[in-house]
Amino acid sequence: MAVQSQDRKTDASAVSVEGLGKSFGEKVAFADVSFEIGHGEVFGFLGPNGAGKTTAVRTLGTLIAPTSGSAVVAGLPLTPANGAKIRRRIAIVPESPGLYQRLSVRENLECFADLYGTASPGGRITRVLAAVNLADRADDVSGALSKGLRQRVALARALLADPVVLFLDEPTSGLDPVAAQEVLSLIDGLRRDGVTIFLTTHRLEEAERLCDRVAILNTTLRMTGRPAELRDRLFARTLAVRVLSPLDAPDAVFAGAPGVEGWRLADGEYLLTVSDSTVAAPAVTRALVSAGADVLSIGESRHSLQDVYLELIGNQS
Ligand SMILES: Nc1ncnc2c1ncn2[C@@H]1O[C@H](COP(=O)(O)OP(=O)(O)OP(=O)(O)O)[C@@H](O)[C@H]1O
Ligand SMILES: [Mg+2]
Repeated sequence: MAVQSQDRKTDASAVSVEGLGKSFGEKVAFADVSFEIGHGEVFGFLGPNGAGKTTAVRTLGTLIAPTSGSAVVAGLPLTPANGAKIRRRIAIVPESPGLYQRLSVRENLECFADLYGTASPGGRITRVLAAVNLADRADDVSGALSKGLRQRVALARALLADPVVLFLDEPTSGLDPVAAQEVLSLIDGLRRDGVTIFLTTHRLEEAERLCDRVAILNTTLRMTGRPAELRDRLFARTLAVRVLSPLDAPDAVFAGAPGVEGWRLADGEYLLTVSDSTVAAPAVTRALVSAGADVLSIGESRHSLQDVYLELIGNQS
């Protein structure tokens, strides 16, 4: 990891993108995209089909040239002259693994190690196979592996190069929940090893669990931030209050409580818009008790990343 630790000391971010865009003729794949990814961060790229995610991965991975803007990838400006150097510092796991079907898992990795010029490939291959829990399948023919196992081989191949930045394009697409879970655990392990990960996904609960920050893309970037930040930026906080019988004078109870900005009744629940639930919840509890109400529950109602996503994408695409 010599290159990696050296880069980490000198660069502020692992990937920095400024006004980046890619068009194919008249067709705009993505436009005016800007973001930064810190070293060791897991950055999620979310967006509907055709949003430009794969094209962005291919652009940052130096497989195609951008049509506008600039980027720094793994410490190097994204220019045609730097292409080979950048490719030595990154790895891409594409949507389909692209293995040689007739070769065994180990033979596949040997081929790619040769291509990458990996030093002492034998030991390295053993290590990456162990990292993806495939040591016992090394001699299996790749074409006979299940989709989930092939995905793991693709991940092993990506790790051969000891990447500073790892691009994963929908790594769990088409996998059953157990296989998806295994791939996610592997990604989590890589994060603990300090690898910076750029991950595209349609699975919002996966992004919510795994990603430090997410960007929501629909040709242009709609929002970037920690999932919790996005929720707070888009939605007012809400307290849901249930009482045994309807309040006689709800306005009198809620309006005077600090932190409460408004209330409404929905499905037998009082939904309070609050500025700060840590202030509002205790105050509302006290107000309810002194009004003689029998409180069944008071809780903050949480918006999921899915709510954020639908708010940004659902009614705009
Ligand atoms: N080589 C190409 N030539 C022309 N148009 C392209 C090319 N590659 C991608 N596009 C277009 O760019 C847009 C973005 O495609 P892209 O594959 O990046 O989307 P995506 O977000 O990865 O979608 P998905 O979730 O379906 O994988 C689409 O409209 C697509 O048709
Ligand atoms: Mg794609």
